[in-house]
Amino acid sequence: METKKLNIGLVGYGFMGRTHSNAYRSVRNFFDVPYEPVLKAVCARNPERAQAFANTWGYESIESDWRSLVKRADIDLIDIASPNDTHAEIAIAAADAGKMVLCEKPLGRTAAEAKAMVDAVEKAGVPNMVWYNYRRVPAVVLAKQLIDEGRLGRIFHYRAKFLQDWTISQDLPQGGEGLWRLDAGVAGSGVTGDLLAHCIDTALWLNGPIQRVTAMTETFIKERKHTLTGKVQKVGIDDASAFLARFGNGSLATFEATRYARGHKALYTLEINGENASILWDLEDLHRLQYFDHGDEGRLRGWRSIHITDSDHPYMKHWWVPGLQIGYEHTFIHQVADFLQGISEGQNPSPTFRDGLATDYVTDAVLKSARSGEWEGIEPEN
Ligand SMILES: NC(=O)c1ccc[n+]([C@@H]2O[C@H](COP(=O)([O-])OP(=O)(O)OC[C@H]3O[C@@H](n4cnc5c(N)ncnc54)[C@H](O)[C@@H]3O)[C@@H](O)[C@H]2O)c1
Repeated sequence: METKKLNIGLVGYGFMGRTHSNAYRSVRNFFDVPYEPVLKAVCARNPERAQAFANTWGYESIESDWRSLVKRADIDLIDIASPNDTHAEIAIAAADAGKMVLCEKPLGRTAAEAKAMVDAVEKAGVPNMVWYNYRRVPAVVLAKQLIDEGRLGRIFHYRAKFLQDWTISQDLPQGGEGLWRLDAGVAGSGVTGDLLAHCIDTALWLNGPIQRVTAMTETFIKERKHTLTGKVQKVGIDDASAFLARFGNGSLATFEATRYARGHKALYTLEINGENASILWDLEDLHRLQYFDHGDEGRLRGWRSIHITDSDHPYMKHWWVPGLQIGYEHTFIHQVADFLQGISEGQNPSPTFRDGLATDYVTDAVLKSARSGEWEGIEPEN
């Protein structure tokens, strides 16, 4: 296959900067994709640290202002892996400059911000994608296949939670490096936009549109010192968020996320109960899918723990031999592989910016409901 080069300009060299860089570097070793990602430039505000990152990951050059990166003629794709308050401005400028745009989640801090991003990429006609990487976990893709094949039958329940425990200490400051998630101005919201956004994106993909939500949120620690101002300031994020939802297919759902569940670091679980079967997935055991089929012979009926490592499981024929599992970083490699294959065929694989906007409409409704105490519809219908 003839391979074309695709020049990447990455913004942000933190946690996600590393997962994306690893994906660009690894994808062609495992997937026969029609593009070769070239690590052209990494951008971050501190040039020394950007250079150190470039040396480690093999970027050819650095930029310390994303505006310079976006202007460069030798960049085909802008990849936004910086905090949430930077997403809209960079994505819109990149689309206006005719670049492909990949953006970390949540797409915007609000749906209004995300809508402007959708308008920009659609007006420019540039390929775009949001890094909702859990759609590329082989076990979650198998769940999608089982649902789409109708094996679960009518769906009654969707249940998702994402639990962490890293902000319990009163002494933890807000804002600045590593702590921008506690600063509402930068993050947009707390666990609703950070953790529930993942749960919602997966849910919309697996179970279709949500119609209405009723939510409650809590900020357990009301004031924290701000790293950048040195002052004790009001905390504007939600520390915990839980909501009930009705899906368009008639199923009922519960969603919960918190950073105050002592003992849990990243417990993302989802369970779907259908008329004929149920499935359950757990990020801490991401290479397994739990499946209960009521059609099994009664004496042997029970939950199966399917080890997702066979070559007929999604993505797995690209990896090792049956029995050997893969992990978190591979989801990003899968996403890059799908994106490169899609754009070579003139398609834009999901989740597109428009899909990311659908999640932001739900998170907006969750936060609105938590304030109003009422059921809220999803605007507009997704
Ligand atoms: N898909 C996922 O599972 C997942 C996981 C974690 C984070 N995220 C998302 O990825 C984004 C980044 O999160 P992270 O955990 O990597 O954060 P991080 O704090 O580890 O890294 C952020 C990076 O952005 C850089 N940066 C900040 N402002 C910048 C600017 N104006 N110009 C250029 N660079 C700038 C910082 O220097 C840092 O390198 C966020 O939107 C977050 O919600 C997604």
